[in-house]
Formats: sequence, structure tokens, C-alpha cells
Amino acid sequence: MASSLDALSALCKRRGFIYHSSEIYGGMPGFWDYGPLGSELKANVKQAWWQFTVRGREDVAGLDATIIMHPKIWKASGHLDTFADPMTMCKECKKLMRADQIEDILAEQKKKPVPHNPEGTLSCPYCGGEMTEPKPFNLMFKTVVGPIDDPSNTAYLRPETAQAIFAQFQNVLATSRQTVPFGIAQMGKSFRNEVTPRNYTFRSREFEQMELEFFIRPDEAVEILHGHVVTLADNPDLNGPVQDDWGWEVWHKYWVEQRKKFLNAVGLPTEHFVEYWQKPDELAHYARACVDIEYDFPFGRQELEGIAARSDFDLSQHQKHSGESQMVFDDPLKQAAKKMDEAARKAFIEKTQADWVSRGKDPIEAEKFCLALFEGKYVPHVIEPSAGVDRLMLALLCEGYEEQNLSEDPAKPDVRTVLHFSPKVAPIKAAIFPLIKKDEAQMKLAREIFTKLSKKFNVMWDTAGAIGRRYRRQDEAGTPWCITVDEQSTQDGTFTVRERDSMTQSRMSYAELLAMMYEKLEF
Ligand code: GAP
Repeated sequence: MASSLDALSALCKRRGFIYHSSEIYGGMPGFWDYGPLGSELKANVKQAWWQFTVRGREDVAGLDATIIMHPKIWKASGHLDTFADPMTMCKECKKLMRADQIEDILAEQKKKPVPHNPEGTLSCPYCGGEMTEPKPFNLMFKTVVGPIDDPSNTAYLRPETAQAIFAQFQNVLATSRQTVPFGIAQMGKSFRNEVTPRNYTFRSREFEQMELEFFIRPDEAVEILHGHVVTLADNPDLNGPVQDDWGWEVWHKYWVEQRKKFLNAVGLPTEHFVEYWQKPDELAHYARACVDIEYDFPFGRQELEGIAARSDFDLSQHQKHSGESQMVFDDPLKQAAKKMDEAARKAFIEKTQADWVSRGKDPIEAEKFCLALFEGKYVPHVIEPSAGVDRLMLALLCEGYEEQNLSEDPAKPDVRTVLHFSPKVAPIKAAIFPLIKKDEAQMKLAREIFTKLSKKFNVMWDTAGAIGRRYRRQDEAGTPWCITVDEQSTQDGTFTVRERDSMTQSRMSYAELLAMMYEKLEF
């Protein structure tokens, strides 16, 4: 595991994982490019997520929406009014920073906090100068749509992929043959004009997200349908098939567990991340629960991704702002409600009102909500597992990085640098080498194997240098298997397969190699 970002970022530059964007012009803070190995790693991470979240399930549909959307979307979602960080500037050295990160900057500098000055204003962590009053700074990048640069043509680069899912909810519902509970997933670029992009790619201004909005029935609908709502206290089996009588709390925990399974599958062991359950006073007003999955990066424990239970807030906001109904019609619910007599309905409304009032909500709205439920109608609630592609890639790079000293002689260290990627995300799946370049039969056979494999996987051809050096080059790239064609290969068609982590070699036929690779690469 990487203990600092310095050696890792040097390897990433040297081997073509990550470069500064626009490097020949001095780079731009918060913008990063992925090179030949980085772009493969990224494609694999995204493909793994899509396979796990969309294709491997019956109850999730995909979406690929535009980056620039109607600006009213950002008014409805709250981003125009509240997606801001408190920004402050030092009156002396003119450095800009986030007021809420001053403590972190001091911790990084391993300095004691600079005492706040007597007026109670902040002090600069760099020069001790007085800071300006923090002002909210909206993180959305603005742009102009069309040829006329007028405020009426202002649009925004999306700061998250999630909102398009809500905005297209009715279209996907109508065209995907899905019914609640079901999810809509999207991956793609997001943009945030972060005040202080930091820690390599961890906090960037342009990055990619992988988001799922999983729509569920409100608990009250589950109650009408099943006469009960399963909660975590009932100890439900979260590893088995999903169940129709689960309440929001169980769905939320189910998705936390699913995300952990995914992280394990792509190479992050459970022991290396923690679940942070946000405290009630940390939650957004509409959220019922939020878990951050945090990873121990070399610069400290930080959020890798989050799983939030967001109630019906998002769809209700879009319903209000667009004037378009975001309700669903749930026939089984209507049929179940038909069986309730007047007394049962009255009791149900009273119980719901008492529950809503205890959560600070309006009893009249509660009654309207119940009457709509009796007709089989409601605005779905949502569970949102939201992950960052770049952040997960950084975690995988940190997790996989190792400098191994293979020498037993302290005077002569022999260090091999390895990236222990899971084969599922490794940029190059196998490298193919003829042992002796000048041997025509070896070259021909190795080339045949390379050509066959390259139709199925990203593989590498290398004939340069001694075999040991070729192995080391692949270790640094995180390639799980190196295939060497030797003298025996030309006689019986088998070749050696050297495994990256154990460095052991075994002899295999082409069919055995393929079977082994498919097994290890399958999701
Ligand atoms: N729709 C919910 C949402 O966007 P978020 O916590 O702001 O929630 C979700 O972002 C994930 O996106 C984060 O956990 C992180 O992985 C990634 N992310 C957010 N801001 C980022 C940034 N500036 N650079 C890289 N990744 C970022």
C-alpha cells in the first residue's frame, strides 16, 4: 500500500497512468489526464461498476444524459442556491481557501492552529494574516448556450450525474418495463469549481461519477401492501434476493452492503475501509440516513463514496418546479388499498399523520399523501449510492502499490515495484513474450497467441530486454499474468504463465489459460 503520494504519483507519470492536464502550458490545478494505462484502468473500473450495478441485475436500467441541462434543473435540485463552499482570502498573502478546510491545512503542515485573532476572525494558515469574512462560493461552472452572451442564456456544467436521472425518471419508467422498486444508473463527467482542489486526483474540478438512484415505495405503501414493513430490527437477510416488504432502512443498508461487495470485487478488502454513518445533525434536512465509505488514503481517512436515503425529496422538487407529475401508479398497491374498509383507512391516516408530525411534517399533507396511496399513487423515495471514478481509481492505485525488496542481502537491495491490481481492473490483462527473440519458431507462436488474445483482452507484446526486466515492467503496470513462449512451447504448444503477486510460474495450454483468465475476470 502506498505510504505517500510522492512515489505513487511518480510511477503514475512514468508509466502513463496520470498526467497533469495541459502540462506543456504549466498544467491547471484540479484537472488531470489519464494516459495509456490510466485510461484502460478507468474503462475497467467503469465497466465493472456497470456490470455489477446494471447488467448483472434485473431491476436497474441505464441512462446516458447530457452534461449541460436546463438551468431550472439546478434551481429545483437546490444546487443554484446552496451548492456552495465558504470561501475566504488572506488579506496579507492573498491566498484563497475554504474556511472549513483551514484546520486540515494546518494539520497537513503539522502546525499547531494559529490562534484566532482577538476580533474572532480567522488567521491565515500560511502567513498568520487576517482572513476576509467567509462568503459562499457556488461550485457550478457556468457557460453560455448559443451565440449571445446574455444572462438569460446561462447554463451550467452538471455538478453531479444524479439530477438527470430524476429529470428523466418518467421517460425511463415508461420505456424500461420496470416498476418500483427499481433503479436508474448513470456514469459520466461532473464538474465542480472546487476552491482548493487537493491531494492529486482526490478532489478535482473535472471528474467522473457512477451514480445509482434506486427508487422504492414509501414505507406507508409497503404497510398497505404487506400489513407490515421489514426494518433492520427484523434482521433481514441482505445477501439473499431483495424482498418486496423491505422498508427504506433495509433498502439503504442493502445498498451499503452491495457497495462493499463491489469494492471487494475490484480489489479493496473490507478491512481497509470504514463505514461512517452520518449523525442526525450532519444529515441534509430531507435525508433519512447517509453512510460515507471512507478509505485510508496516504493523506488520511477520506470519503470514497456515499450511500444516502434521500426520501422523495428530488422527485418532489422536480414535480414542483416543472409542474410535471412525478408520481407512479402502483396497481398492486391500489388493489391492496381496495381491501381496506373505511375504519381501516381512517386509522391508517391517523397513524401516518402522527408519524409525520413526529418528524416535523404537515398533517394535512400526510392526509393527502394517504388518499393518493389508496389510489395506488405516490412519488417514489430513493436510495442513492454515489461513487467517484477517479477517487476509486486513486484508492486502487494506493491499495495496490508496493515496493518489495526481493534481496536477502541488506547491502544489495533489489526492489521490485508492483501494482497488485485485481485482474478485473488491471489495465493490461496479460503480456506475451518470446523467450528468445531470435528464435523464429518462438516468435511465430508467441505472435499467434498474442493475436488470439488481443481479440478478447487488452494484452501487451514485449520482446525487449532480458525476461526478468520484462516481468518487472509488467509488475509496475499491474499486469497479472506474463506468458513466455520457450523451447518447449514450440514442441508441445504449452507456455509458462507467471503470476504477478506470487511470481510463481506454471505451464499451461492455450485452452487452460483462457479458462483461467475467464474465471478470474468474470464478475
Ligand atoms: N449525487 C450525490 C453526490 O454527488 P457527493 O458526495 O457530492 O454526492 C459523490 O459526490 C462522490 O463523487 C464522492 O463520494 C466522490 O467519490 C466523488 N466526488 C465528489 N466530488 C469530487 C471531486 N471534486 N473530485 C473527485 N471526486 C469527487
